[in-house]
Amino acid sequence: MSKKPFYITTPIYYPSGNPHVGHCYTTVACDSIARYKRMQGYDVMFLTGTDEHGLKIEQKAAEQGVTPKEYVDVIVDRFKKLWSYMNISYDRYIRTTDDYHVEAVQKIFKALYDKGYIYKGEYSGKYCTPCESFWTDSQLDENGCCPECHRPVKFAKEEAYFFKMSPFAERIEKLLLETDYLRPKTRAVELVNKFIKPGLEDLCVSRTTFKWGVPVSFDDKHVVYVWIDALSNYITALGYENSAHNDYEKYWPADVHMVAKDIMRFHAIIWPAMLMALDLPLPKHLAVHGWITMAGKNGESEKMSKSLGNVVDPFVLGERYGQDSIRYHILREMALGADSLFSNEIMINLINSDLANGFGNLVSRTVAMVDKYFGGTIPSEREGDALDDEFKAAVTGLLAEVDKYIDETEPWKLGKDETKKARLASVLYNLLEAIRISSALLAPFMPTIMPKVWEQIGASEADVEYEKLDKFGVLPENVTVHKGEILFPRIDVDKEIEELNSILAKNMAEAQAKLSSEEKGEASAEPIELKPEITIDDFAKVEIRVAKVTACEKVKKSDKLLCLQLDDGMGGRQVVSGIAQYYAPEDLIGKKIQLIANLKPVKLRGVDSNGMICAADTPDGVKVIFVDDSIPVGSKIR
Ligand code: MSP
Repeated sequence: MSKKPFYITTPIYYPSGNPHVGHCYTTVACDSIARYKRMQGYDVMFLTGTDEHGLKIEQKAAEQGVTPKEYVDVIVDRFKKLWSYMNISYDRYIRTTDDYHVEAVQKIFKALYDKGYIYKGEYSGKYCTPCESFWTDSQLDENGCCPECHRPVKFAKEEAYFFKMSPFAERIEKLLLETDYLRPKTRAVELVNKFIKPGLEDLCVSRTTFKWGVPVSFDDKHVVYVWIDALSNYITALGYENSAHNDYEKYWPADVHMVAKDIMRFHAIIWPAMLMALDLPLPKHLAVHGWITMAGKNGESEKMSKSLGNVVDPFVLGERYGQDSIRYHILREMALGADSLFSNEIMINLINSDLANGFGNLVSRTVAMVDKYFGGTIPSEREGDALDDEFKAAVTGLLAEVDKYIDETEPWKLGKDETKKARLASVLYNLLEAIRISSALLAPFMPTIMPKVWEQIGASEADVEYEKLDKFGVLPENVTVHKGEILFPRIDVDKEIEELNSILAKNMAEAQAKLSSEEKGEASAEPIELKPEITIDDFAKVEIRVAKVTACEKVKKSDKLLCLQLDDGMGGRQVVSGIAQYYAPEDLIGKKIQLIANLKPVKLRGVDSNGMICAADTPDGVKVIFVDDSIPVGSKIR
């Protein structure tokens, strides 16, 4: 009988920097599902890969003086090394620079064009070069800058191809609200209200401003811009519109696409629209999870990401605790769906409690007792007990039962009594069986350690097959154990946390220092465009004074504005500032700031503002320029 196919995918990652623990999340989760399905007898296709085109890659390669392909080759290699290190059992790896993918994307683009779903138009709007994004006026921040990086935008116009989304709006709304395509379902309403109800906008799908992409076959001034290239990978990797692979019929539609929340919209709306336009079946499920976050500077958690310079290197953790401990931390601690904080403390305590003291200890104690009392081999003379039946029934459901059984049977006492040897043989055999079953069930999640457990308890490959996991008494009657290394060494928490924190902090500092100037936002990759020159007399027209914030509150019905009362040495004044997303009122009260004191008064949201306080745009948001407390209020700044 042929096996039932099961197709699961991760997103394809941007090879713009080294992979980090955040990237491991989806991949480890998908790997565990893939392994579990294989164990159940499915014919699994597990796909991952890299999304290698785009302006950012082109720019980074140029900075390093290499070609874009040379640049991505190095990083793709690191991704592959990480996946092999983490024991990720992918069946296929797609690179969007692979010839077969490029060829298929060109055909898909052309097919959509021929069907009238892609048309040529003009894209105009405010453009942020570092983010490669066009923004509408209403999306810009309160300073008229890019809402993502808060750097200045410029007006830009570009001939571009567009993908018509509106014909699919109704079907997509139904897909999201009336089927269980999207998981968790709670996100569906948010998507429909935000993107579909206001009218699904057409999507810009080509660019003429850079070259590093799949050329549009019938108009080579254009390259296919991002999502048609990226999303198509899920079908081109199976051989859709190409002859490199040949299993589209077998595996499509996918059983699960798993992604994090920031790319949910593309998978929940654009991907179904593309498939509808191509008349192809839709994937069965889209599983969306939250981010791995890190504690940020203001105590708030923020996404683990290279551009924030807060990434944790999985190789460092793996070397210290083993790859399966990282996998366990991700899978055990991080509820799929919500964001979850990565913390060394949580991880180390979890390793100690669940793995070192819990499972690891059970294996080493049991194996050690078989070794000590029976020279390693369980004897045939055994003596059952009513407790055993209860235990055998419970074990196939619950590992915690094992501890209870050990407490009740007290094998260390049996071992001291020559007349109780047969009873002890039964107890230890039963414990080995409990370990066989639980380790086999844990293997999809911790695939590196479990084969070592099987070695220690004397289980063969056949003994840990899925069909044998609800049966008791599978290990050979006279099974021989092999004492081995400690599976999860107990960690000295305080010492380890101190050491690990300092290693990771050092790595992060190095990574921050290495971040390209563009990412740090200190100097743009493009030369900074200065305003026209002014004379000292022009500058003298600006009156900048030191002032102290005496009171501060949020402006009603605005989530961006704060209203500040200032002691300016001139009788006091009120200023409204668009910094509420970055500061709470209490962060500012009592602080000294720089005030543009002769700015014409305006009303913001009906509130009078007499001047402006100086702040800097940084990649982490807007930062007020505070003044040293020793400088008196009213001092002139020049
Ligand atoms: N190339 C696109 C995806 C195209 S899929 C057709 C992309 N690449 S990415 O490398 O930026 O991100 C890939 C995935 O990794 C995304 O789902 C992203 O959210 C996820 N993660 C990156 N950092 C993460 C965390 N800190 N935590 C959890 N997931 C994280 O987007």
